Amino acid sequence: MKRDTIIYQCQACGYVSPKWLGRCPDCGQWNTLVEEKKEITHSFWRSNNQRSSRTPNPPQPITQIEFLKDKRISTGIKEFDRVLGGGIVKGSLILIGGDPGIGKSTLLLQAMNKITEHGKILYVSGEESPEQVKMRAERLKVSSSDLLLQAETCLENILETADQVRPVVIVIDSIQTMYSEDIPSAPGSVGQVRECSQKLMSFAKTSGSSVFIIGHVTKDGSIAGPRVLEHIVDTVIYFEGEKGHSFRILRAIKNRFGSSNEIGVFEMTDEGLREIENPSELFLSERPEGATGTVVTASIEGTRPILLEFQALVSPATFGVPRRTSIGVDYNRVNLLIAVLEKKAGLHLLGMDVFVNVVGGLKITEPAADLAIVTALSSSLKDQAIDPHTIVFGEIGLSGEIRAVSQAELRLKEAQKIAFRRAIIPKANAERLRGELSMEIIGVKEINEAMEYLF
Ligand code: TYD
Ligand code: MG
Repeated sequence: MKRDTIIYQCQACGYVSPKWLGRCPDCGQWNTLVEEKKEITHSFWRSNNQRSSRTPNPPQPITQIEFLKDKRISTGIKEFDRVLGGGIVKGSLILIGGDPGIGKSTLLLQAMNKITEHGKILYVSGEESPEQVKMRAERLKVSSSDLLLQAETCLENILETADQVRPVVIVIDSIQTMYSEDIPSAPGSVGQVRECSQKLMSFAKTSGSSVFIIGHVTKDGSIAGPRVLEHIVDTVIYFEGEKGHSFRILRAIKNRFGSSNEIGVFEMTDEGLREIENPSELFLSERPEGATGTVVTASIEGTRPILLEFQALVSPATFGVPRRTSIGVDYNRVNLLIAVLEKKAGLHLLGMDVFVNVVGGLKITEPAADLAIVTALSSSLKDQAIDPHTIVFGEIGLSGEIRAVSQAELRLKEAQKIAFRRAIIPKANAERLRGELSMEIIGVKEINEAMEYLF
């Protein structure tokens, strides 16, 4: 590989340099220069695609484009299928990201068992030897002669093998261990990760094999090759969970073939991952009775409602600046809600240490959880427990008003299933409710009104 076919391009402004620099001289950003093949910008597709002659694809009327019926392959794991949007689309490139040790290899190995019904699978491991993978497969009761293991890290070799084997699915475990001969840098560097992914993409599109890429997440939470991969692939799925908990959440971040933001819930057991069909019951299973500072809310994750317990602990700060900690909810959101409580509800929280936690290791980003955070905080401060059969949800505005949230009915139905008897929800939602709900619904317009019902 001649060195002069490599250029270094700034990922922020496009500046091109013949050698690597720590700081882009053009835009001044640090660590943005990434090695690339010189031809990549000009004739990448021509050199990699089989359709290299320059005949354009003819445009077709949208009415004449037909769906291919059996385009999706089921993984046999319902939660996984849902996150994928109903199964694996043929010829798609799917990225599974997550912390090391969270269970990415386990999930994919387990999923491959059912897929062998459709043809061969090429499982390429750059991290473990075939013996190690087999040991895990035995534990997961995965066995099929159509599951082919390959210990290989050179991408060109992998594609050559895939060309002969013609697998329905290829698993690359993990992209950080793979390298392409066309790029001189070490495996795991941004340039390598991108080059390998691009080659896999064009292989998937031309051969019809679906490709799963496993990617480790870096400390700051992005998949190595800062977000590079997310643009290339069709589907991005993160596998999340707290190390100490056995719950695992599979979350679609981007999906060209289905709804994003869909989640699947699993539990890690001795025999691999177990699907959890009713997460609400699980998340509420250890709720303390009659404790202060805890409340249940209904959150929408993707298309389904999940009931969750929010906990808060408020105690006088012993010295200096009060401490604020939030796990599972946005820190700034908690600070904002504390300010609203202080100003609008007359609660004195500013000199207090405040801790907020979402039980079960889930991360909640929707503002519908605001009322739950506020309720848990007030309950802890006042040292009064909330009625255990009440759920709350609602977004809180800066002037203390409670705003409507989406899909209120879905949330309430889930709560009713788990025998909740009373719900405190935004007034605007309460007025629009139709259908028969047997629980007592209280619509509130602002924060003080909610407090009156709660305490
Ligand atoms: P793994 O799939 O190797 O994680 P990743 O590929 O994301 O790095 O999972 C490793 C963890 O899962 C390890 O700590 C052991 C645990 N585990 C189980 O608890 N039960 C099992 O059946 C398996 C296979 C793994
Ligand atoms: Mg692994």
